[in-house]
Amino acid sequence: MTKGLLSDQVNTKEIEIIIRELNRVINKKITGDVVELGCYVGTTTVHLTKTLMATDKRLYVYDSFEGLPEKTRQDLSPLGQQFQVGELHATKKQLVKNLTQARVPMPYIKKAWFSDLIKSDMPEVISFAFLDGDYYGSVIDSLRVIESHLVSGSVIVVDDYSNAALPGAAKAVDEWLIGRSVVKKIEQSLAIISII
Ligand SMILES: C[S@@+](CC[C@H](N)C(=O)[O-])C[C@H]1O[C@@H](n2cnc3c(N)ncnc32)[C@H](O)[C@@H]1O
Repeated sequence: MTKGLLSDQVNTKEIEIIIRELNRVINKKITGDVVELGCYVGTTTVHLTKTLMATDKRLYVYDSFEGLPEKTRQDLSPLGQQFQVGELHATKKQLVKNLTQARVPMPYIKKAWFSDLIKSDMPEVISFAFLDGDYYGSVIDSLRVIESHLVSGSVIVVDDYSNAALPGAAKAVDEWLIGRSVVKKIEQSLAIISII
C-alpha cells in the first residue's frame, strides 16, 4: 500500500487527478454537491472531503459495506480472479473511524446496494461524482441513479476504466455514454467524463 493512503484501491497519481478534476468543478463554480459510490474504507473520501472544506458543497458517500456483489458476464476476466463476492468488505464503523482519525468533516454516509438507491438518496444537484464500484452492474447502476442530478459542467470520474482485471467498468461507461453530449478522457485507470 502507498504510504499515507488508507488502502491500495487507488494510487497517489489517481488521487491527484480526482482532486484536480474536483478543483476544476469548484473553480468553475458549477452548482451541486459531490457523491462517491463505492467508498470502502475512505481512501478517496478523505481527500474529497478535505478538498470540500473551503466550499459550500457537501459530500455524500455510498457503499454496501458488504463488499463486492456477484460478477456478471461483463466482468469476467482471467486477470480478475482476486475479485470475488464479499471481497473489499469494510464496515461503516471502520469508515467513520478512519475519517475521524483523519480529522475531516463527516460526509453523509448511506449503506445500500447501488441498485436499491433512489432519486431521494442523492443530493438534488451533483456537480462531481466519483464512481468506484468495480463491476459492470455497480457502475451502470451508479450512472443511472446520478444521471438526472447532473448539470452542464458536472464531471464524473470512474475508476478502473483501463483495468483489464475489471472489464465491466469500461463496458458500463461506454454503454451509458451512447448518444450523450460529453467529453471523455482517460488518465491512468480513470475515465473522466465532462457533461456538456
Ligand atoms: C474498490 S472499492 C472502493 C475503494 C474506495 N473508493 C477507496 O478509495 O477506498 C469498491 C467498493 O464498492 C462497493 N460496491 C461495489 N459494488 C457495489 C454495489 N453494487 N452496491 C454497493 N456497493 C458496492 C464495495 O463494497 C467496495 O467497498
